[in-house]
Amino acid sequence: MKKILLVVAVSTLILTACSNEYTPVAGAKGEEIFKAACMECHEAIEGKDNIYYELAADRKNLAYIEAKINEGSLMMPKFPNINGDELKKVSQYALDHSADK
Ligand code: HEC
Repeated sequence: MKKILLVVAVSTLILTACSNEYTPVAGAKGEEIFKAACMECHEAIEGKDNIYYELAADRKNLAYIEAKINEGSLMMPKFPNINGDELKKVSQYALDHSADK
């Protein structure tokens, strides 16, 4: 029983995306937030200026990107402090700088 609990505890730790406490300044532009919070991991795609993502059709929308930012994933930290207008602006920036997959 103890072993099972331990396994559950460890997998929960591994599977939970870590959290990035970055907080945008109120009124920051999408581009500023993107440069401060996202570009360390999301560089421009090779050979494409200012294009950071290649998104499949079902992901090429604000709802998907906003959820990704707030919820993160196995590999990407979640950003619980990017909300409201700032969340919309940085998501729009990411969307505007995406190509089709
Ligand atoms: C510590 C590194 C890191 C940071 C910082 C980061 N990401 Fe990510 N992101 C990743 C990784 C790794 C993936 C690919 C794995 C995945 O989809 O979960 C990803 C995936 C994504 C995707 C999905 C792409 C797809 O093909 O579905 C979007 C959109 C995204 N990130 C947006 C952002 C935005 C916007 C920010 C800034 C607020 C950000 N990321 C910050 C590492 C990061």
